[in-house]
Amino acid sequence: MESGQFGQMWHQVAGHKDHGDSPGFLLAADGRILKNISHDARGKKEEQFYKMVFSADEYKDLRQFIPRYYSSVQLESKEYILMEDICASFNTPCIADIKIGLSEVCSLDSEDKKMSMIKKDCHTLPKLGYRFAGAKTYNKHTDSAKLLDKEWGKSFTRTNCAVKTEQFFCNGCSSEIRRDVVPTLLRQLKDLIEYYEKQGLFWLCRSSLLVVYEGQSSESTGRLKLIDFAHNLKQEIPSDDTQVEFGLRTLFSVLCSIQDDKTHSWTFEAPIKHQPLEL
Ligand SMILES: Nc1ncnc2c1ncn2[C@@H]1O[C@H](COP(=O)(O)OP(=O)(O)OP(=O)(O)O)[C@@H](O)[C@H]1O
Ligand SMILES: [Mg+2]
Repeated sequence: MESGQFGQMWHQVAGHKDHGDSPGFLLAADGRILKNISHDARGKKEEQFYKMVFSADEYKDLRQFIPRYYSSVQLESKEYILMEDICASFNTPCIADIKIGLSEVCSLDSEDKKMSMIKKDCHTLPKLGYRFAGAKTYNKHTDSAKLLDKEWGKSFTRTNCAVKTEQFFCNGCSSEIRRDVVPTLLRQLKDLIEYYEKQGLFWLCRSSLLVVYEGQSSESTGRLKLIDFAHNLKQEIPSDDTQVEFGLRTLFSVLCSIQDDKTHSWTFEAPIKHQPLEL
Protein backbone atom coordinates (compact mmCIF):
# COMPACT_ATOMS: atom_id res chain seq x y z
CA MET A 1 0.00 0.00 0.00
CA GLU A 2 1.10 3.57 -0.66
CA SER A 3 0.28 6.63 1.44
CA GLY A 4 -0.81 8.50 -1.74
CA GLN A 5 -4.03 6.49 -1.89
CA PHE A 6 -5.17 7.95 1.44
CA GLY A 7 -6.57 11.40 2.20
CA GLN A 8 -5.09 14.19 4.27
CA MET A 9 -6.13 14.37 7.92
CA TRP A 10 -7.87 17.75 7.67
CA HIS A 11 -9.49 17.72 11.11
CA GLN A 12 -6.50 17.20 13.43
CA VAL A 13 -6.46 19.81 16.23
CA ALA A 14 -3.36 18.82 18.27
CA GLY A 15 -0.44 16.38 18.37
CA HIS A 16 2.12 15.50 15.71
CA LYS A 17 1.22 16.50 12.16
CA ASP A 18 4.18 14.50 10.87
CA HIS A 19 7.16 12.43 11.93
CA GLY A 20 10.01 13.59 9.72
CA ASP A 21 9.01 12.84 6.16
CA SER A 22 5.96 10.70 7.00
CA PRO A 23 2.52 12.02 8.02
CA GLY A 24 1.30 11.64 11.62
CA PHE A 25 -2.16 10.64 10.39
CA LEU A 26 -3.90 9.71 7.13
CA LEU A 27 -7.59 9.50 6.27
CA ALA A 28 -8.75 6.09 5.10
CA ALA A 29 -12.12 5.12 3.61
CA ASP A 30 -15.27 4.24 5.58
CA GLY A 31 -14.76 6.53 8.56
CA ARG A 32 -11.30 5.27 9.49
CA ILE A 33 -7.95 6.92 10.05
CA LEU A 34 -4.36 5.69 10.15
CA LYS A 35 -2.09 6.79 13.02
CA ASN A 36 1.65 6.59 12.38
CA ILE A 37 3.33 4.54 15.12
CA SER A 38 6.79 4.12 13.56
CA HIS A 39 8.60 7.02 15.18
CA ASP A 40 9.63 5.48 18.52
CA ALA A 41 8.65 3.05 21.29
CA ARG A 42 5.54 5.10 22.15
CA GLY A 43 3.86 4.02 18.96
CA LYS A 44 4.34 0.34 19.74
CA LYS A 45 3.00 0.87 23.26
CA GLU A 46 -0.14 2.47 21.89
CA GLU A 47 -0.60 -0.39 19.42
CA GLN A 48 -0.22 -2.94 22.25
CA PHE A 49 -2.78 -1.08 24.32
CA TYR A 50 -5.38 -1.08 21.51
CA LYS A 51 -4.73 -4.77 20.77
CA MET A 52 -5.12 -5.69 24.42
CA VAL A 53 -8.31 -3.68 24.92
CA PHE A 54 -9.93 -5.21 21.83
CA SER A 55 -8.98 -8.78 22.75
CA ALA A 56 -8.86 -9.17 26.55
CA ASP A 57 -12.21 -9.68 28.20
CA GLU A 58 -11.33 -7.64 31.30
CA TYR A 59 -11.00 -4.54 29.07
CA LYS A 60 -14.26 -5.00 27.19
CA ASP A 61 -16.09 -2.23 29.08
CA LEU A 62 -13.39 0.27 28.05
CA ARG A 63 -14.08 -0.28 24.32
CA GLN A 64 -17.11 2.05 24.26
CA PHE A 65 -14.94 4.94 25.49
CA ILE A 66 -12.14 4.77 22.88
CA PRO A 67 -11.94 4.70 19.06
CA ARG A 68 -12.45 1.25 17.61
CA TYR A 69 -9.18 -0.47 16.64
CA TYR A 70 -9.29 -2.40 13.33
CA SER A 71 -5.75 -3.54 12.52
CA SER A 72 -2.11 -2.56 12.12
CA VAL A 73 -0.86 -1.87 8.59
CA GLN A 74 2.41 -1.12 6.84
CA LEU A 75 2.71 1.70 4.29
CA GLU A 76 5.97 2.59 2.57
CA SER A 77 7.95 0.88 5.36
CA LYS A 78 6.14 2.79 8.13
CA GLU A 79 3.71 1.21 10.56
CA TYR A 80 0.24 2.59 11.24
CA ILE A 81 -2.75 1.62 13.31
CA LEU A 82 -6.10 1.68 11.55
CA MET A 83 -8.78 3.04 13.85
CA GLU A 84 -12.21 4.64 13.90
CA ASP A 85 -12.36 8.32 12.96
CA ILE A 86 -14.40 9.86 15.80
CA CYS A 87 -15.28 12.86 13.60
CA ALA A 88 -16.46 10.86 10.57
CA SER A 89 -20.20 11.14 11.18
CA PHE A 90 -20.14 14.95 11.50
CA ASN A 91 -20.72 17.46 8.68
CA THR A 92 -18.92 20.31 10.41
CA PRO A 93 -17.16 18.90 13.43
CA CYS A 94 -16.16 21.22 16.27
CA ILE A 95 -13.32 19.38 17.97
CA ALA A 96 -11.34 19.69 21.20
CA ASP A 97 -8.32 17.69 22.35
CA ILE A 98 -8.32 17.98 26.15
CA LYS A 99 -5.40 16.52 28.13
CA ILE A 100 -6.55 14.99 31.37
CA GLY A 101 -5.00 14.22 34.76
CA LEU A 102 -3.22 16.23 37.41
CA SER A 103 0.21 15.49 35.94
CA GLU A 104 1.87 14.17 32.79
CA VAL A 105 4.66 12.30 34.59
CA CYS A 106 4.96 8.56 35.23
CA SER A 107 7.54 6.13 36.62
CA LEU A 108 8.60 5.02 33.11
CA ASP A 109 10.03 8.48 32.36
CA SER A 110 13.72 9.32 32.63
CA GLU A 111 14.68 12.05 35.12
CA ASP A 112 15.17 14.49 32.21
CA LYS A 113 11.77 13.66 30.79
CA LYS A 114 10.16 14.08 34.22
CA MET A 115 11.69 17.54 34.61
CA SER A 116 10.60 18.65 31.15
CA MET A 117 7.03 17.35 31.67
CA ILE A 118 6.78 19.03 35.10
CA LYS A 119 7.87 22.31 33.50
CA LYS A 120 5.35 21.83 30.73
CA ASP A 121 2.36 20.98 32.92
CA CYS A 122 3.02 23.59 35.61
CA HIS A 123 0.35 25.64 33.81
CA THR A 124 -3.17 24.34 34.19
CA LEU A 125 -3.00 20.59 34.67
CA PRO A 126 -2.08 20.56 38.38
CA LYS A 127 -4.83 23.06 39.13
CA LEU A 128 -7.74 21.78 37.07
CA GLY A 129 -6.79 18.30 35.88
CA TYR A 130 -7.61 19.25 32.28
CA ARG A 131 -6.05 21.40 29.60
CA PHE A 132 -7.09 22.14 26.02
CA ALA A 133 -4.19 21.05 23.78
CA GLY A 134 -6.04 22.42 20.73
CA ALA A 135 -9.56 23.02 19.50
CA LYS A 136 -11.56 24.09 16.49
CA THR A 137 -14.98 25.74 16.53
CA TYR A 138 -17.34 26.88 13.79
CA ASN A 139 -18.50 30.45 13.16
CA LYS A 140 -21.89 30.18 11.47
CA HIS A 141 -21.92 33.87 10.45
CA THR A 142 -18.70 33.69 8.47
CA ASP A 143 -19.03 29.97 7.67
CA SER A 144 -15.46 29.46 8.79
CA ALA A 145 -13.51 27.57 11.42
CA LYS A 146 -11.88 29.23 14.41
CA LEU A 147 -8.82 27.63 15.98
CA LEU A 148 -8.13 27.75 19.72
CA ASP A 149 -4.50 26.87 20.22
CA LYS A 150 -2.27 25.43 22.93
CA GLU A 151 -1.45 28.89 24.30
CA TRP A 152 -5.16 29.58 24.77
CA GLY A 153 -5.35 26.27 26.66
CA LYS A 154 -2.59 27.37 29.00
CA SER A 155 -4.47 30.53 29.98
CA PHE A 156 -7.06 28.62 32.03
CA THR A 157 -7.22 29.18 35.81
CA ARG A 158 -9.56 27.95 38.54
CA THR A 159 -11.36 31.29 38.25
CA ASN A 160 -11.81 31.60 34.48
CA CYS A 161 -12.00 27.98 33.32
CA ALA A 162 -15.79 27.73 33.02
CA VAL A 163 -16.01 30.92 30.94
CA LYS A 164 -13.02 29.82 28.83
CA THR A 165 -14.36 26.30 28.27
CA GLU A 166 -17.65 27.87 27.12
CA GLN A 167 -15.77 29.49 24.22
CA PHE A 168 -15.43 26.03 22.70
CA PHE A 169 -19.24 25.98 22.38
CA CYS A 170 -19.48 29.44 20.83
CA ASN A 171 -21.09 29.62 17.41
CA GLY A 172 -19.77 33.02 16.38
CA CYS A 173 -20.80 35.62 18.92
CA SER A 174 -20.69 35.32 22.70
CA SER A 175 -24.47 35.21 23.11
CA GLU A 176 -24.68 32.14 20.89
CA ILE A 177 -23.53 29.17 22.90
CA ARG A 178 -24.36 25.63 21.75
CA ARG A 179 -25.90 24.53 25.05
CA ASP A 180 -28.02 22.05 23.10
CA VAL A 181 -25.04 19.71 22.53
CA VAL A 182 -23.91 19.67 26.17
CA PRO A 183 -26.43 17.14 27.62
CA THR A 184 -25.29 14.33 25.31
CA LEU A 185 -21.63 15.07 26.14
CA LEU A 186 -22.42 15.12 29.87
CA ARG A 187 -24.11 11.72 29.69
CA GLN A 188 -21.05 10.21 27.98
CA LEU A 189 -18.69 11.89 30.44
CA LYS A 190 -20.67 10.60 33.41
CA ASP A 191 -20.46 7.02 32.09
CA LEU A 192 -16.72 7.44 31.50
CA ILE A 193 -16.06 8.78 35.01
CA GLU A 194 -18.05 5.96 36.59
CA TYR A 195 -16.15 3.41 34.51
CA TYR A 196 -12.72 4.91 35.17
CA GLU A 197 -13.20 5.11 38.94
CA LYS A 198 -14.42 1.53 39.13
CA GLN A 199 -12.09 -0.34 36.76
CA GLY A 200 -8.98 -0.90 38.96
CA LEU A 201 -6.82 -2.07 36.01
CA PHE A 202 -4.86 0.87 34.60
CA TRP A 203 -4.05 4.54 34.98
CA LEU A 204 -3.87 6.85 32.00
CA CYS A 205 -0.99 9.27 31.60
CA ARG A 206 -0.79 11.99 28.89
CA SER A 207 -4.05 10.81 27.30
CA SER A 208 -6.70 13.17 25.99
CA LEU A 209 -10.43 13.44 25.72
CA LEU A 210 -11.51 14.06 22.17
CA VAL A 211 -14.76 16.03 22.32
CA VAL A 212 -16.69 16.56 19.10
CA TYR A 213 -20.04 18.20 18.36
CA GLU A 214 -21.87 19.11 15.18
CA GLY A 215 -21.20 22.72 14.22
CA GLN A 216 -24.36 22.98 12.12
CA SER A 217 -26.85 24.12 14.74
CA SER A 218 -29.75 22.07 13.36
CA GLU A 219 -28.18 18.95 14.90
CA SER A 220 -27.51 18.39 18.60
CA THR A 221 -25.04 15.51 18.28
CA GLY A 222 -21.79 15.03 20.14
CA ARG A 223 -19.18 12.38 20.96
CA LEU A 224 -16.61 12.16 23.68
CA LYS A 225 -13.78 9.57 23.59
CA LEU A 226 -10.40 8.91 25.17
CA ILE A 227 -7.41 8.94 22.78
CA ASP A 228 -3.59 8.75 22.85
CA PHE A 229 -2.50 5.72 24.86
CA ALA A 230 1.29 5.62 24.71
CA HIS A 231 1.80 6.03 28.46
CA ASN A 232 -0.94 4.15 30.27
CA LEU A 233 0.21 2.08 33.26
CA LYS A 234 -1.00 -0.89 35.27
CA GLN A 235 -2.32 0.10 38.70
CA GLU A 236 0.80 -0.90 40.63
CA ILE A 237 2.92 2.07 41.69
CA PRO A 238 0.73 4.64 43.52
CA SER A 239 2.72 7.63 42.17
CA ASP A 240 1.70 6.62 38.63
CA ASP A 241 -1.87 7.62 39.41
CA THR A 242 -2.25 10.94 37.54
CA GLN A 243 -5.77 11.34 38.94
CA VAL A 244 -7.54 11.48 35.65
CA GLU A 245 -10.88 11.49 37.50
CA PHE A 246 -9.99 14.86 39.05
CA GLY A 247 -9.89 16.45 35.59
CA LEU A 248 -12.93 14.55 34.31
CA ARG A 249 -14.97 15.63 37.33
CA THR A 250 -13.86 19.26 37.08
CA LEU A 251 -14.83 19.23 33.41
CA PHE A 252 -18.16 17.61 34.30
CA SER A 253 -18.93 20.43 36.74
CA VAL A 254 -17.89 23.06 34.16
CA LEU A 255 -20.06 21.47 31.44
CA CYS A 256 -23.04 21.47 33.83
CA SER A 257 -22.53 25.22 34.31
CA ILE A 258 -22.41 25.73 30.52
CA GLN A 259 -25.60 23.71 30.09
CA ASP A 260 -27.35 25.83 32.76
CA ASP A 261 -25.91 29.16 31.49
CA LYS A 262 -24.12 29.71 34.82
CA THR A 263 -20.45 29.92 33.88
CA HIS A 264 -20.03 33.41 35.37
CA SER A 265 -21.05 32.23 38.83
CA TRP A 266 -19.19 28.87 38.64
CA THR A 267 -16.64 28.37 41.40
CA PHE A 268 -13.98 25.70 41.67
CA GLU A 269 -14.47 22.96 44.25
CA ALA A 270 -12.01 20.08 44.54
CA PRO A 271 -13.84 17.07 43.09
CA ILE A 272 -14.51 14.03 45.27
CA LYS A 273 -13.91 10.58 43.79
CA HIS A 274 -16.94 8.23 43.77
CA GLN A 275 -19.37 11.01 44.66
CA PRO A 276 -22.60 10.36 42.71
CA LEU A 277 -22.84 12.53 39.57
CA GLU A 278 -26.13 14.23 38.98
CA LEU A 279 -27.42 15.23 35.58
N1 LIG B 1 -9.60 8.37 16.46
C1 LIG B 1 -9.54 9.66 16.11
N2 LIG B 1 -10.57 10.22 15.46
C2 LIG B 1 -10.53 11.52 15.08
N3 LIG B 1 -9.47 12.34 15.30
C3 LIG B 1 -8.40 11.80 15.94
C4 LIG B 1 -8.39 10.46 16.40
N4 LIG B 1 -7.20 10.22 16.98
C5 LIG B 1 -6.51 11.37 16.93
N5 LIG B 1 -7.22 12.33 16.29
C6 LIG B 1 -6.77 13.71 16.01
O1 LIG B 1 -5.36 13.74 16.02
C7 LIG B 1 -4.87 14.57 17.10
C8 LIG B 1 -3.64 13.94 17.72
O2 LIG B 1 -3.96 12.65 18.17
P1 LIG B 1 -3.05 11.86 19.22
O3 LIG B 1 -3.03 12.57 20.50
O4 LIG B 1 -3.49 10.44 19.23
O5 LIG B 1 -1.63 11.95 18.51
P2 LIG B 1 -0.24 12.50 19.04
O6 LIG B 1 -0.41 13.34 20.26
O7 LIG B 1 0.48 13.05 17.89
O8 LIG B 1 0.32 11.15 19.47
P3 LIG B 1 1.77 10.74 19.87
O9 LIG B 1 2.20 11.77 20.87
O10 LIG B 1 1.51 9.38 20.44
O11 LIG B 1 2.53 10.77 18.59
C9 LIG B 1 -6.05 14.74 18.03
O12 LIG B 1 -5.97 15.97 18.70
C10 LIG B 1 -7.23 14.68 17.08
O13 LIG B 1 -7.46 15.94 16.47
MG1 LIG C 1 -1.85 13.68 21.79
